[in-house]
Amino acid sequence: MNIKYIESTRSFKIDTVHTSYVMGVVDKEGFLGHAYYGRLIPDDDVNYLMRVFEPPFTPEKNERDRLSFYDCFPFEYPTHGIGDFRESALRIEDEGGHAANKLIYKSHEIFKGKKKLPGLPATFGDEKDSMTLEITMEDKEAGIEVVLSYSIFEGIDAVARSAKVVNRSGRKVKLTKAMSTSFDMDDRDFDKITLYGTWAREKAIDRTPVAYGSQSICSKRGISSAQHHPFICLLEKNADYNKGEVYGQDLVYSGNFRTSVGRSQYDSVRLMTGINPEDFSWALGDGEEFYTPEAVLVYSSEGLGGMSRTFHDLYRQHLIRSPYRSKKRPILINNWEATYFNFDEKKLIAIADCASKAGIEMLVMDDGWFGNRFDDNRALGDWDVNEEKLKGGLKYLVDEVNKRGMKFGIWFEPEMVCPDSDLYRAHPDWAIQIQGRKPGLARNQMVLDFTREEVTDYIYNKVASILKSANIEYVKWDMNRPLCDLGSAELPAERMGEFFHRYTLGVYRLQERLITDFPNLLLENCSSGGGRYDAGMLYYSPQIWASDDTDAIERLKIQEGNELIFPLSSMGAHVSDCPNHTVGRTTPFRTRGHVALAGTFGYELDVTKIPEEDRELIPEQVKMYHRFNDIVREGDYYRLASFSENGDFDSWMCVSKDKNEALITAVTVMKRPNVKSRNVKLFGLDPDKKYCLFKEDGSDYTDGMTGYGTDRKISGRTLMNAGIQICEGWGDFQSLLIHVKAAK
Ligand code: GLA
Repeated sequence: MNIKYIESTRSFKIDTVHTSYVMGVVDKEGFLGHAYYGRLIPDDDVNYLMRVFEPPFTPEKNERDRLSFYDCFPFEYPTHGIGDFRESALRIEDEGGHAANKLIYKSHEIFKGKKKLPGLPATFGDEKDSMTLEITMEDKEAGIEVVLSYSIFEGIDAVARSAKVVNRSGRKVKLTKAMSTSFDMDDRDFDKITLYGTWAREKAIDRTPVAYGSQSICSKRGISSAQHHPFICLLEKNADYNKGEVYGQDLVYSGNFRTSVGRSQYDSVRLMTGINPEDFSWALGDGEEFYTPEAVLVYSSEGLGGMSRTFHDLYRQHLIRSPYRSKKRPILINNWEATYFNFDEKKLIAIADCASKAGIEMLVMDDGWFGNRFDDNRALGDWDVNEEKLKGGLKYLVDEVNKRGMKFGIWFEPEMVCPDSDLYRAHPDWAIQIQGRKPGLARNQMVLDFTREEVTDYIYNKVASILKSANIEYVKWDMNRPLCDLGSAELPAERMGEFFHRYTLGVYRLQERLITDFPNLLLENCSSGGGRYDAGMLYYSPQIWASDDTDAIERLKIQEGNELIFPLSSMGAHVSDCPNHTVGRTTPFRTRGHVALAGTFGYELDVTKIPEEDRELIPEQVKMYHRFNDIVREGDYYRLASFSENGDFDSWMCVSKDKNEALITAVTVMKRPNVKSRNVKLFGLDPDKKYCLFKEDGSDYTDGMTGYGTDRKISGRTLMNAGIQICEGWGDFQSLLIHVKAAK
């Protein structure tokens, strides 16, 4: 890990373990251009990659064609309005309504460690494990400065970038676009992968060629959304999970975003991400600063898998802060699919009784415990325990659950208010709406104006007083509708463009306060499932509910999408009852367990009512979780087969960092006739170590199979180059685990 400024070539060189990121200051004016990002290279002069020695040359050599230069130079942070007609990263209006800025290199600083981004989630590092470069760019005529920040981390092939805009003009200006990153590459024919979806079908993988013109994905919903996710990767045409060059980019932000990519007239590719400029503006007074959210760039020459492992390491080590981040999470049972709104304290205690005997460690009481909340039409905002439902009050219930040796967790939807609630009746102006226009409802609810501290303070106090009233050790923070009909009783007209971003800052402020005041709380974010499963939220909660779709087969696709970016330790995954409540499918209980094991693991069912043979499997699954969770949570993830690609078979493996253990999961979605086994090549093992393979029950996986040698010890090299045979079970939706252990 190193960052240096090379005076002779006026270059900045950022080196991680296997990658180099190089920028150059060119022309006597001092434009900052992007020269190279990819495999590690020595400190050669690579400014030629910016084509500044070819026509149209730089303005210093060719003033008459300045615009041609602007329109092809790989600007590190391109600005609007001066003649670069590709996508711009920055647009600022002055008091006269003009929007044209030219950014010129002014100064730079390289230091150990990493600064915090005020009010925003971001990767963190200390002086021992991270380094930062800050390049200050300026537009002298406009009195604008932009500080571009680049941080790297020991042992991790990622660059975290953000920008700070400072107004030194002596006047007011208005930001209408301030992206987190822009990144140009020359002459590349890439595919791109983005993630799309909807409720119960989050993070589906979409691979298409990068075309000419600008292609983008975005959110305008006030949350990162289930529809798109602020992640993109560019990959060589032949790249797949295990080979090829891949450039991944993820935004550490939970609100409206826009991520775009496109090929220019000269075949260069520009990749950009940041706050969605639609519905965004920010009034910046003299001397004021604006911080963009952070974006993370990852380069991998080992395919998508290499990219994912880098994201996982980075997020585990430098984004997730919870004391739980490298700890086993309690196996929870959530009563949502078990009871929906139809529960009382007796029902929950009965579930706890039965669950604790099976080894489940925490009961989570979901929606319906407060106010007049007997269904989803009312009472959001009324965060007082309904003692008609929970006789004896919350403390009694929590104590009863604790007596059974279980922890207790609770559900909130703090950002919401129902028109039929005491809170709305008392403070109608606290809900987002436009005076004189009937607001659109979703699930009969409105969104609270979290741009106002008075509102977030009130909600904080309500949540905190519930948490203090009993021994509550977990919170599921839900968010179940998008934002529209934007109107705020407090924000003045000229600041309405700030609403969406201020709302997101309000959510962050509240979650920060919660985890600061309750440092041991296990927080799980959720937004109708995975509608806000993003890197921003991971800064506050070590785990996020991945989807309301708990069907084991649908989950294969959803989890594969999440695993591209997010560590498995962060993925909320539960075993639920069948026929599945979302798709009506019936899968074996064992398969549901194997699939949920890839995440935080828990249950979402009425354990008192499920078939006896399923209930009997729970203690086995609990054991399995305790045996394998360390590998899943802390290990390296490799995808072996993709059901979304091949339509009938899914497999992945996790390898412990010391390469002494691995866990393979294989799911045969559709049984094929007259096929005995499939060959799967393993990854990530030590080629020179010998390994043994075991079934889930600890017996020898290769028992009865000839050809695995007499001592049944197989070298990592053979397992990786030749693979193993995975036996298919009988029927659809069958799964198995294989435990790979280094031989003594
Ligand atoms: C959302 C969540 C569910 C559940 C319900 C409760 O849909 O994603 O898990 O908590 O709300 O209303």
